Amino acid sequence: MSRGGLRRVVVTGLGAVTPLGIGVKRTWQRLIAGHCGITSTRDLGSEFVNLPSQVAGIVPKGLKADGCWTASEHVTPTEIRQAALFAQYGLAASAEALEDAGFKDGKSLDPDMTGVCFGSGIGNLSDLYETSIAYNAAKNYRKIHPLFVPRILINLGAGHLSMRYGFRGPNHTATTACTTGAHSIGDAMRFIQLGDADIMLAGGAESCIHPVAIGGFARSRSLATDFNETPERSSRPFDRDRAGFVIGEGASILVLEELEHAQRRNAKIYAELAGYGCSADAHHLTAPRDNGSGALQAMRKALKHAQVEPAKIDYINAHATSTALGDAAENTAIKSLMMNDDGVTRTSDINVSSTKGAVGHLLGAAGAVEALFSVLALSESVMPPTLNLQNQTAGFDCNYAAGEAQHRNIDIALTNSFGFGGTNASLCFRKIQDVR
Ligand SMILES: *[C@@H]1O[C@H](CO)[C@@H](O)[C@H](O)[C@H]1NC(C)=O
Ligand SMILES: *[C@@H]1O[C@H](CO)[C@@H](O)[C@H](O)[C@H]1NC(C)=O
Ligand SMILES: *[C@@H]1O[C@H](CO)[C@@H](O)[C@H](O)[C@H]1NC(C)=O
Ligand SMILES: *[C@@H]1O[C@H](CO)[C@@H](O)[C@H](O)[C@H]1NC(C)=O
Ligand SMILES: *[C@@H]1O[C@H](CO)[C@@H](O)[C@H](O)[C@H]1NC(C)=O
Ligand SMILES: *[C@@H]1O[C@H](CO)[C@@H](O)[C@H](O)[C@H]1NC(C)=O
Repeated sequence: MSRGGLRRVVVTGLGAVTPLGIGVKRTWQRLIAGHCGITSTRDLGSEFVNLPSQVAGIVPKGLKADGCWTASEHVTPTEIRQAALFAQYGLAASAEALEDAGFKDGKSLDPDMTGVCFGSGIGNLSDLYETSIAYNAAKNYRKIHPLFVPRILINLGAGHLSMRYGFRGPNHTATTACTTGAHSIGDAMRFIQLGDADIMLAGGAESCIHPVAIGGFARSRSLATDFNETPERSSRPFDRDRAGFVIGEGASILVLEELEHAQRRNAKIYAELAGYGCSADAHHLTAPRDNGSGALQAMRKALKHAQVEPAKIDYINAHATSTALGDAAENTAIKSLMMNDDGVTRTSDINVSSTKGAVGHLLGAAGAVEALFSVLALSESVMPPTLNLQNQTAGFDCNYAAGEAQHRNIDIALTNSFGFGGTNASLCFRKIQDVR
């Protein structure tokens, strides 16, 4: 039952906190119905009104019963005090994922064989900001909160998860910008394949909707600035008028489990995580290569691990963040991957969508949320829509499920994540009944 001499890894639990709502069910239903979770940031404070980009994918605040976020309904008072918001979102998503996998509070698990791979791209920026201001005003180190260091270290998110459940297996954090979520899931898969763990909580989280983060991305000319009056139209992957990404917040956690471990306990298996490929562009701080060669490498490696031919891919969840260059490079890479040799013959048969039109770009959480969407696309037989794709320009000739979800059997799905610094990763999921 091994693949290439390695233990096999399946997904048995899912958890999510997204701009579409709290919980996997609510998020998925709204995604498939074509809803958008992107809203104006103007209500967040007067400092947001002077920023060039005034839109964001914000986790809705309110009662849990309404699918919204109130911290005290998801995390303990101690966790609220000690954990940055990104880690709190991760804690909430982990509780849902463990429950979904049938592990409740995790007490029945072998703690030494259960671990955590959980990261964030940026962490709580306001902790750094407020502390710097307070210190600078007084020039007194006593203005620094005793919890300052534990709150800003990004790996403390993984620490909080392991402490809550007592998991003593691998405790690891990737922080690779917008590839964080995908790397966390891929690295967790490796820990299970190599026998370091039987079960891993894997994913990513982000919560940095702060004027300094938005200002910073605006200065690197990465953000959408033309749609401040119509937030739900601002994130438009692959569309002619796309002009930058929309910052978002949230978290997703997957329970990954060794295949036989899952089979022995008759677990519900969503999908096998069959392949993980990483590569670098080795090119530029923030821009991709035009021909998408880094993305292509990552996808090819993921397929090689999964022992899958490109033509067998039923669905690709693209990284496509709604930027002019990034979407074009990835589109080129996907076409090079799929149109080769015995691949598909018509570009219109390539089924690819970007869910960022609905949630924005969740940075360190993006890869995890999109892995979740890819797993659900398989298990629910639906290709989620690409919102706001209204005018397709030359070269954008794949099937993007523009504006509407498409119902169809999906056996194999690929999901891409690319980050500043040139880091690319791709994950390949497949239906378990499809596996011999
Ligand atoms: C983030 O940092 C700010 C400033 O220190 C602090 O007020 C806030 O409680 C932190 N929030 C969370 C939950 O991340
Ligand atoms: C996991 O790592 C964090 C810090 O990185 C640490 O606080 C925590 O105790 C670790 N968990 C375990 C159970 O080893
Ligand atoms: C992409 O461009 C780079 C640099 O120009 C080149 O080395 C590479 O071979 C190209 N790859 C593809 C797939 O065309
Ligand atoms: C993409 O979906 C269409 C139906 O919408 C299907 O005919 C086609 O075979 C799919 N492509 C691949 C490569 O699976
Ligand atoms: C772009 O798409 C919109 C909405 O479908 C349509 O009204 C408009 O005519 C299109 N523009 C062009 C130039 O095709
Ligand atoms: C690989 O990562 C780079 C780094 O930012 C990213 O810009 C690029 O989109 C990725 N590669 C491609 C060609 O998509």
